[in-house]
Amino acid sequence: MAKNARKKLIAGNWKMNGLAASAPEFVRVVGAYQGLKDSVDVMVFPPFTLLTSFGTASRGVGVLVGGQDCHAKASGAHTGDVSAEMIADAGGQAVIVGHSERRTDHGETDADVRAKAEAARRAGLVAVICVGETKEQRESGEAKAVVSRQLAGSLPDDAAAPHVVVAYEPVWAIGTGLTPTAEEIAEMHGFIRSEIVGRFGADAGAKMRILYGGSVKPDNAKEILATADVDGALVGGASLKADDFLAIARAAG
Ligand code: PGA
Repeated sequence: MAKNARKKLIAGNWKMNGLAASAPEFVRVVGAYQGLKDSVDVMVFPPFTLLTSFGTASRGVGVLVGGQDCHAKASGAHTGDVSAEMIADAGGQAVIVGHSERRTDHGETDADVRAKAEAARRAGLVAVICVGETKEQRESGEAKAVVSRQLAGSLPDDAAAPHVVVAYEPVWAIGTGLTPTAEEIAEMHGFIRSEIVGRFGADAGAKMRILYGGSVKPDNAKEILATADVDGALVGGASLKADDFLAIARAAG
């Protein structure tokens, strides 16, 4: 399948940022999407507190919204957690699972991430499954082994486009202003695709989108998004300002 068969996806991860007063930034993204929707898919992952209002603001426009995490179970005695079914009920169509901040701050294992991805499937959500090595792991030459292990452990056996998206986010590039070179990104994305092809077959591998994440900004988006096997971006800090996020989305078009 030709590379351009995978429509680019720009996903904004607001992390623990955003109050009701931030809604106009999102509304501006929604307002501009009409001119972008033929060339790029856009998802925004606000904090749970804003999910319903963002879902309402984007209904029928094509900008998808989602949660930044979910519990593996549909309901039950899990204080503070939110299920995939609840995200869907609140108007979400997607969920990020296995973000490195969840893996680090909450000790999430690959098995946890896989169970969450399975929950997303059960609830009809797209799962954006994150993988990526630390600085130490890259410097010791283990980056591919780490990512391979994370993919093997975190992707469910029925992972397939369009309900699964992989996001490669080197931990050392997140929020630091540092990025791998285009060659390093191409090498890792090519490796990830070969791993997916090896497990799920050539057709599934050709269809699955692989996003790059970690310090994507308006000024580096064009080069990153033009890199082989990069099918979009997972954007943290630069997704909080509509101008920056839209500039990145335009760079994908
Ligand atoms: P960043 O975050 O763009 O602020 O580096 C990316 C992410 O963590 O998804």
